[in-house]
Amino acid sequence: MRGELKVFAGNANPELCQRISKSIELPLGKRVLSRFPDGEIHVRILENVRGRDVFVIQPTVPNPNESLMELLLLIDALKRASAERVTAVIPCYGYARQDRKDLPRVPISAKLVANLLVAAGADRLLTIDLHAGQIQGFFDIPVDNLYAFPVFQEYVQEVHLDNPTIVSPDVGAMKLASLFCTKLNLPLATVDKRRVGDYEVEATTVIGDVKGKKVILIDDIVSTAGSLTEAAKILRKKGAEEIWAFAVHGLLVGPAIDRIRNSPIQRLVTTDSVRTEIDDRTFELTVLSVAELLGKAIMCIHKNESVSSLFS
Ligand code: R5P
Repeated sequence: MRGELKVFAGNANPELCQRISKSIELPLGKRVLSRFPDGEIHVRILENVRGRDVFVIQPTVPNPNESLMELLLLIDALKRASAERVTAVIPCYGYARQDRKDLPRVPISAKLVANLLVAAGADRLLTIDLHAGQIQGFFDIPVDNLYAFPVFQEYVQEVHLDNPTIVSPDVGAMKLASLFCTKLNLPLATVDKRRVGDYEVEATTVIGDVKGKKVILIDDIVSTAGSLTEAAKILRKKGAEEIWAFAVHGLLVGPAIDRIRNSPIQRLVTTDSVRTEIDDRTFELTVLSVAELLGKAIMCIHKNESVSSLFS
């Protein structure tokens, strides 16, 4: 076992950090995280971390630039204070969707973020449902990519949806959707989605049988909700009886709430990997917590135990 465990939090999702701290029965480390008058971020670690095994929790969305910079400065401060090992716990990894050069003269932002984390001094990464598993290869340090699946599975079993079908809203979400199918032993269908702009998508075809079915639409991210709501519309046209949407990371930005409210989606189920501040309850929203899952993974990593055993 390494040095004593310490957990610090950024400002991006204080509620999740408190829940994790409660689940592992360890108070969050004391630090200052404020702004200088010109807007620069001021970080100071207020306790001894020399030789300690430190975890820093900070999702880098929905304010990716601010949240990432806070995280980098926290890691730098901890390394300079002689922490033995620093693990960046990023429940939702910002910039993950920019993971390849799909147009001329664009950056591979997900790789740049990986470089920045390592340059700041991160020794490991712990995250949940990376947009693309291959992003792990952008790091030459160990990456533990957890799945929120067990949290969703428990919920699906609790609500007893009658004879559901899993639907992927696009080809990219097929892997996640097929994991659900395998674990829950359910059929799979998919929607053919094309992105026509940053805010707009088009869903043209459904492959698979959804007529008269209760549909569980599964995606890793709901951002402007274009993908889920366009998929829901075509599924309804094809005769789906009920449509429930599940998305691990509930960014819910811009037109998301209006779109969901005006769509056939009956309920959105997401997690607290991202802070969701929605007072408007004109649609049904369930936010499940990934705190316990992250807490268990932190303890496994700290004690050098298997993380994959959490999913077996
Ligand atoms: C795309 O590849 C992702 O998996 C999500 O489908 C997408 O990021 C969701 O974005 P939006 O909610 O804005 O359609």
